[in-house]
Order: sequence, then structure tokens, then C-alpha cells
Amino acid sequence: MCGIIGFTGNIQAKNIIIDGLERLEYRGYDSAGLALLNNGRINVMKKTGKVADLRKLCENAELSGTCGIGHTRWATHGGVTDVNAHPHRCGQVVLIHNGIIENYKQIISEYGLADKLMSETDSEVVAALLDTLYDGDPIKAIKKTVNVLSGAFALCIMFQDIPGKIFSIRNVSPMVATSCEKGSIIASDLTALIEFSKDYFVVPEYHILTLSKEGIDIIDMKGNEVKPEILSVNWDIASAQKGGYPFFMLKEIYEQPDAIRNTVTPRVSQGLPDFTEDGIDDSIFTDCERICVVACGTAMHAGMVGKHLIESRLRVPVQVEIASEFRYKNPIMDSKTLTIVLSQSGETIDTLEALKLAKSMGSKVLSIVNVKGSTIARESDYVLYTHAGPEIAVASTKAYTVQIAAMYLIAARMGLVRKLIDEKSTKKFIINLINASNIIEETLKSANNIKRVANHIKLAPDAFYIGRGLDYTMSLEAALKLKEISYVHAEAYAAGELKHGTIALIAENVPVIAFATQEDVYGKVISNIREVKARGAYVVLVSMDEKVDDVAICDQHIRIPKLDSEFTTFATSVILQLIAYYTSEAKGLDVDKPRNLAKSVTVE
Ligand code: AGP
Repeated sequence: MCGIIGFTGNIQAKNIIIDGLERLEYRGYDSAGLALLNNGRINVMKKTGKVADLRKLCENAELSGTCGIGHTRWATHGGVTDVNAHPHRCGQVVLIHNGIIENYKQIISEYGLADKLMSETDSEVVAALLDTLYDGDPIKAIKKTVNVLSGAFALCIMFQDIPGKIFSIRNVSPMVATSCEKGSIIASDLTALIEFSKDYFVVPEYHILTLSKEGIDIIDMKGNEVKPEILSVNWDIASAQKGGYPFFMLKEIYEQPDAIRNTVTPRVSQGLPDFTEDGIDDSIFTDCERICVVACGTAMHAGMVGKHLIESRLRVPVQVEIASEFRYKNPIMDSKTLTIVLSQSGETIDTLEALKLAKSMGSKVLSIVNVKGSTIARESDYVLYTHAGPEIAVASTKAYTVQIAAMYLIAARMGLVRKLIDEKSTKKFIINLINASNIIEETLKSANNIKRVANHIKLAPDAFYIGRGLDYTMSLEAALKLKEISYVHAEAYAAGELKHGTIALIAENVPVIAFATQEDVYGKVISNIREVKARGAYVVLVSMDEKVDDVAICDQHIRIPKLDSEFTTFATSVILQLIAYYTSEAKGLDVDKPRNLAKSVTVE
């Protein structure tokens, strides 16, 4: 998503816009720009890079004017280039856009706009269309334009021949607005508004706003004047930047229910998994004899959940490969292998090169990616986009759970089209998957109990996660999360494997978090817990059951909702994420930007 802001008032607009963009930068930060309308002229300054780079660019530029718009981009259509940065200008019109115009290609051909376009973006198409339809009446032109658009948009528009005014309209993409003695302000969210006023209103969808230094007029599409409901905010500027959370990671952990809903529900029709809108051909599921999952880090751990599901439900062999290893192992692969690539950023170089290798060996590639138009997505034969929204914290949380959800959808679709699972069972599976959001919401209620675990771990030099089956897979992700943001050394172990060596490391008070959510091996894990307890470990049991004897042998119990064993992953994910988060926070570390790490590893 992107950040947008508009201001018109009695004071110079440039710094107001740039300051506002800095507060909106968490929404997207690959390029930034602004436009100022002054004495019948529009000045546009924009470039790739951070808002700080834009500020430097504008430092010595002649950019006076009390009316302007600004944008910080999170690229969806078109790469990260200066020309693709916003604002986009065409003839009399300059605008900024947050959202995705689904029919932009159709608009280009229908209105013959190709010659007007300089960028690869859908947003510039809106500017060109608006300019084409503009005959001096802005409201009429805006109405005609939005009647053509399909998709999500939040638009702020200026017309060169209409001084001092900003027009705005939205559909789905968020915008809030307010006016004060300095002027009128509109932005993607409160972070850019609250320094002006604690009172604001949510811009109603499909209403046209006209901002002037006197105030904000709102009309509906029939031309009726509308008075908005005024709300008030009690955030301070700093916390509002993260939606009121102390760190982006915590915000993103709490965004998981919506992220999963946004990823799953568009792929369910009549209760069954459906990839029609994604253009994914069923033949990739029916024609393959085996599957190779390739990814890095957390994305790979999500792929391992998919392995468990597909092998246990469909008996199709799945190998999971670390991308950086896969590239150099001369893998056994052919056209009968379906390669599934997972990547939040869609730019991880090891994963990208592994993808290219798989393709060169005849394998069809389906990628699960969170960033639209990213390189991995473009190189793939098919893409199943996750809709988690931008993930800013380096530690991946919501991207992980939506990747898992995507693997559940693939397992369900594959079982259906290979006629291995009937519709009735598939519908039940999908109902459980849709319930994942509720599972996460329910588990988030244990946050305080989980904090107690972190207080114990933060002092430990080492920590162990153990589990069997899916719980072992979750242990791998738990150990990575803890290491990467709290710097506590952690290891994941198959619970049954401990006694073959590692148990030598278990001593008094060494924390062992045992995931025991898989009914078929629950008793075995309890035995393993007794083994480590007998050697002084501090044991945290994560399970569905409240079996008193089992809980009694542990130092702490985190209960998860009663679920089908296949679906405990969503609850366990939240628990492992919160343990890592609270440990890092307790140690006073920068949870969002841990040392040595980058959000997207684009180097080998
Ligand atoms: C996740 O917490 C890590 N930051 C890291 O392992 C990440 O999952 C990995 O680098 C893969 O990134 P990608 O999903 O963007 O390809």
C-alpha cells in the first residue's frame, strides 16, 4: 500500500507534505514525490528512495505554494523507478493514487491513452483518463472517471487551472481528512493528520471532496451535499505511526486475522478452493508426480507445512529445498515436478535463482508471493498472491501465516482436481481454513500468559523448541524467530530425537518449549517432556488439552483452542511469534530492525 497526503491552506505546503510523508512512510517506501500548485503552475518533484531523499531533492528547489499533494510508494504496478513514482501528471491534471486499478489496460485501449503515458503504472492511466474527460468542470470529470474505474483507489487530484483546490475520491483504499486554522488536510491515515487536529472524519466512499483553505466540501455522486461524522483520535504522533503499536512486528502479528481473510476468501467459491481469478491452471496439480518446494528462512518453514499437508492428505511426494543449497546441488527435476516457490518480498535472490534453475529443467513454477509485480512473481509460470499487505518488520509474521494458508488452499485444490478428496471433505477443510482467522484472534488473548515465557527466556543463553510432525515444523520457525530478533540462541528438535545427543545440553532451568498439538503423537511428546524435566529443564507446554497430570509436570502451560490437528499451526504460529516478540522487547532491542538483517535478501 502507499501513503498519500494533500494540503491546502494559509501557509506554505512543501514541508507540511514532506513531514506528513515521513509519518506515512511505513506504508510504503520505495519512492516518494510531491506536487505544488502555485500561480497557475504545477511543480512536480519525485524520485526513488526514501522521503528523506525527497526532502533533500526539494531543499534548494523553488517550491512555493500553499496547495499541494504528496505520495510515498509501495510499488504494485511497475517497477521502482523515478518515472513510476507519484505524483503523475497529464495535461491539466496531477494526481496521486493508493490502490490498484484492475481495468487500467482496458482503459488505455478504450480511450486511446497509450501516447499520453510515460510510466508503467495504473495510476498514470487515471491521470490521463481524467485529463481526457476534463473540460473545465472538475466534478463532472471526476464522476465520469470513477464510473470507468474498477478496483481500489484513493485519489488526490489538482487541476492546473483551479488554484488552491484539491479534489479527492476513494473506493476501498483508506483516507481520512480534517480542516483547521492552517487549512484542509487529507491523508491515508491519521499519522499524517493528528498534528493538525484530533478531530477528523473518514472519507466516505464514492463521495467527491473539494478541499480549499476555507474547509472541505463533500458531495455524493448525485451532487447532494454531505456532512461527515466527526471523530476524535487519542493517539500521539509517534505511536500512531505504527497504528498505536510499539513496533510494526506486533501490529503485523495482530493483522494476521485480516491478512488470512484477505488471502483465503477470494479463493473460495461455493465453499470450494478456486484459483480461477489467479489464472492458475489445474493441470499443474493433476500432471505432476512430485512437488519441490523452494524458499528461504520463514518462507521455507511455511513450505514445510505444505509438505506435511500434501503428503499426509494426497500421498504426493514433496521435497523442501533451501534455495541457496538447491541452486548448487544439481537437483533431480523434470517436467513431472511442480515447483512451488514461496517469498514474501518476491526479490530474494537465492529463491529467484533457484526458480530459474527449476524452470530450465522443465519444471512448472507456481509462486506464493506477497509483493505484486515482484521479480519472482514475474518469473513464475503462475502466482498465488498473498494479501497480507506490506510487511515492514524484518521478522516475518503475517506473511508466514498467509503463506501457510496459501499452502492449505493448494493442498485442498490439488486433492479436489486429482479426485483424491471429495467435495464434501474439501468443503469441511475449507471451513476449517476460513476459521483460521478466528483461531488466531482467540490465541492472541493468551498474550499475557505468553509474556511470562519471554521473561524466563530472555535471561537464557539457549532455548529449545521441540515437537513431532507439524509441531516439529513449527519448532523450526519458532527457533528462527527467537534468534533473529532476541539474539537468544535457539534450536528446534524433533522431540523423539533429543535423546540421541542433544539432551546432553539440557540442564537446570534450560527453557524447553514443547509443542504438543498433534493428537496422534501427543503421548510421545509428553514422554519427551518428562525426559527433559527429569534433567531440570524449564518446560513450557503448548497444547490443546488441559490434562492435569501433563500440565502439572510443566512449569507453564499455554493452551490453544480445541482444533483439528491439521489446523493448530495458526495458533502455534501466534504463540511462537509472541514469545520471540516479547523476549526481544524485554531485552530492549529494536524488534523491527534487528542487527545484521534486511527485510529482503537480494544478495547471495
Ligand atoms: C523471516 O523472519 C526472515 N526475515 C527471513 O527468514 C525471510 O523469511 C527470508 O529471508 C525469505 O524472505 P522472502 O520471503 O522475502 O523471500
